[in-house]
This record gives sequence, structure tokens and C-alpha cells, in this order.
Amino acid sequence: MTLSREKLAIEGGVPVRSKPLPPMFPGGMMIGEEEKQAVMAVLDDKNLFRFYGPSPTPSRVAALERRFAEYMGAKYALAVSSGTAALHCGLIGLGIGPGDEVIVPAYTFIASATAVIAAKAVPIIAEVDDSLTLDPFDIERHVTRRTKAIMAVHMRGAPCDLDSIMEIARRRGLMVIEDVAQADGASYHGKRLGTFGEVGAFSLQYHKVITTGEGGMLLTNEQTIYDRARIFHDGASAFRGGKERLSVPLFPGVNYRMGEICGALGLVQLNRLEGLLQMMRARKARIRAAIAETARAKGVSFRRLNDPAGEAAVALILYMPTADKAREVARALTAENVNAGSMFNEGVPDWHVAFHWKHIINQAMPTERGCPFRCPLYDGEPNYSEDMAPKTLDLLARSVHINVSPLLTEEDADQIAEGIVKVLRALL
Ligand SMILES: Cc1ncc(COP(=O)(O)O)c(C=O)c1O
Repeated sequence: MTLSREKLAIEGGVPVRSKPLPPMFPGGMMIGEEEKQAVMAVLDDKNLFRFYGPSPTPSRVAALERRFAEYMGAKYALAVSSGTAALHCGLIGLGIGPGDEVIVPAYTFIASATAVIAAKAVPIIAEVDDSLTLDPFDIERHVTRRTKAIMAVHMRGAPCDLDSIMEIARRRGLMVIEDVAQADGASYHGKRLGTFGEVGAFSLQYHKVITTGEGGMLLTNEQTIYDRARIFHDGASAFRGGKERLSVPLFPGVNYRMGEICGALGLVQLNRLEGLLQMMRARKARIRAAIAETARAKGVSFRRLNDPAGEAAVALILYMPTADKAREVARALTAENVNAGSMFNEGVPDWHVAFHWKHIINQAMPTERGCPFRCPLYDGEPNYSEDMAPKTLDLLARSVHINVSPLLTEEDADQIAEGIVKVLRALL
């Protein structure tokens, strides 16, 4: 790597890269012949619905569930229509409902919180720490007699501190639902994410590590949770004419089923998962090693990882000394064609930061009255305000985020490192 001392691109200098970084749709950008053939086979046999069709071909969705459960190391997998649906089914599976509270981090996609509200329970917002995942030291402050579960969200590919979270949960008699939407395939000390808590919820939406366009998966080792989730996700079908054996009584549900085209895509994408993780980890390690010395010298730290070997490595996140510096560095990097962003800006709405969830903070609902907020069964007062998680906002505001696409070549990785070194040297 050559250490450039040229003028920054933002000041009119020559950018370290001639074109922007490749798009960040890890599985999505790999879609090719195998996906095409898998989808065409579904169309050819005209079996688009998982439970019946004109040909005897076995269900691809059922095959995906079996393979996903086996790959992740769980007893049961339930394929659903989205990550949000997986969270909603998981919460219903856990028996969470009106009057209950679930602890959710202040940095996560809003769906983590809206799924709790959809289950008619109340999300209570807790801080993240410098790993940008749930801060174990902040959890117990929020536990009340209404708390039923902790939602551990493995943000930007990196595992939560599951040792601490599981210890708190066991000691306080709480359940854990893992939101693995952004970390498909990642692990914590050798065990796959989504298999620590009572429920793991995954997303297969287009932006995720592997994708079926839209889609999700729920994992659990407990039959009653699986059966409750199964009933809820396929409520319209009255449980397939009583052919299925259920460990719990039937109750009304919705339709969150996955279709066969997504099932077929998912089977191919699951085969790609290990290779995608390897590529992202290798590229990120290369960039990290090349910038470590400059970062240290300039007082810039890396996002702390609870298990560096297990993370999906979808992003490189650096902390700057101040929010202003983070914005300046992100702008300068982007001008170098090393696309970067700071992660919280009061003036830029972003549904990954609870500060911006104005309609949740205002307890807005589609109807005037009703659970979870205006509900006779709920006697709590949610901790909502723009100041509810100051530590989270400070960390996010000081951070600079760069995607690590599996499409990066070694040359791309070296140019990213060169750009970071150039910008840190010039601005810090
Ligand atoms: C952390 C997190 N949770 C949940 C979701 C919801 O997933 P989906 O978009 O598949 O409903 C997402 C995805 O956007 C996410 O990033």
C-alpha cells in the first residue's frame, strides 16, 4: 500500500479510487444461474404454494426449513415472509402479549420494536455499548414485573454479549429472543447466532447476507414455541385439516407463509452463505490490519467485537473523537470513493436509531384506543423520549461506517485502507 499524502479529494485532490465501492447486497449480487434454474423448476412444475399443487414435487420451503435448522444447529425452523414476521411469530410463540414489556436496544432497525407492538406488548428502550449491541449493564435498570423478554439484536453482523445477556435472563427469569436479521450465519464462540435464546429470528430480505427478496426464518428448540409460531403464521388454513400434530391448542393467526419461489431461492442462497462470510471476513481483516497503526496513532478506535472470529464482517466501524469529526471523515472518505457514513445525525431520519422513532415515542397506534399502550392490562409507563439513550447516540454520532461487500477485491480492500489512512492523517 502506498501512503498517499496528496490533497484530499474533498479539497479537489485525486481520489484514491476511481469509482464507488460495489453495492452492499451480499447474497443478492451473487444471484446467477443456480438461482435462475431453481426458480424455473418451481415454475415448470407449477407448485408455487408450499402445502399443495399439481405435481408431487416435495416442498422447497420445507426443505429450506430442514437445511436451515441443520446449518444453524436448532431443532425447529419455520420459514416466514419476512424478518419482521419471524420476530412477530417468535413473540407470539413465547406467549408475549398485552401488559408485557420487552427490552429492545436503542440501535436496531425499527422492526425489532414494531414487532413487539404488533404482539400488543411494549418495547422498552435500552442502551447499546461500544459493540453497538445491547449493553448488558443497562438491561437490569429496565426490568420490571412486566418484563417478559430481552431482544438481543446482533447489529451489523456482530454478536451481542450473549454470555452476559443469557446470565441476566436466567437470573431474572426472562426469555431471550435474538434478532439475527443483520447477521445470518454469524456465531458467538463457535455456536451460531439464533440458537442461544428461546427464539432466533432471521431476515432474508434483499439487503441481508443471504436473500430471497423478502423472507424470514424462525429458529427454536422448543416444540410449544414452534407450534405456537406455526399456528400463528398459517392461521387462515386451520392447520391443514388436522393432519398436523400440535402440542398446543389452536388459536387464530395470520398469513406469514413463505412461497415456494422464495424457498427455492433460499436453498441456493444458503449454499452461498459460508463463502460470503469467508470473503467478507478476509477483506475486513485485510483493511483492519492495514489501518491499525494509523488508527491507533490518531486516537481512532474500532467497534468492539464480542467475538471477532464469529462476526459476519459486513461492516467496518470506527469511532472518531467527536461527532463533527465523524461527519467530516465520512464526507472526505466518500469523496475518495470509499463510501462512508456517520451513524447518527439528528437532522437525518434513520429508522435504525430509536431517537428517530417519533411515532413510537408518541405511542401512535392505528386506532385511538387499545393495546399495547392505552390498554387496561398495561400499568407501566414506557421510557420514551428523545433523550432515552444518550450513550447510544454519542457512540453512533462518533462512528464512521463502511460496508464490507463480498465483491471487494484485494485491490479494493487496499484502496479502502489507503483512503482511510489518507483521510485520518489529514483530518485528525
Ligand atoms: C435488525 C433488524 N431486525 C428486523 C428486520 C426486519 O426484517 P424484514 O425487513 O425482513 O422484515 C431488519 C431488516 O430490515 C433488521 O435489520
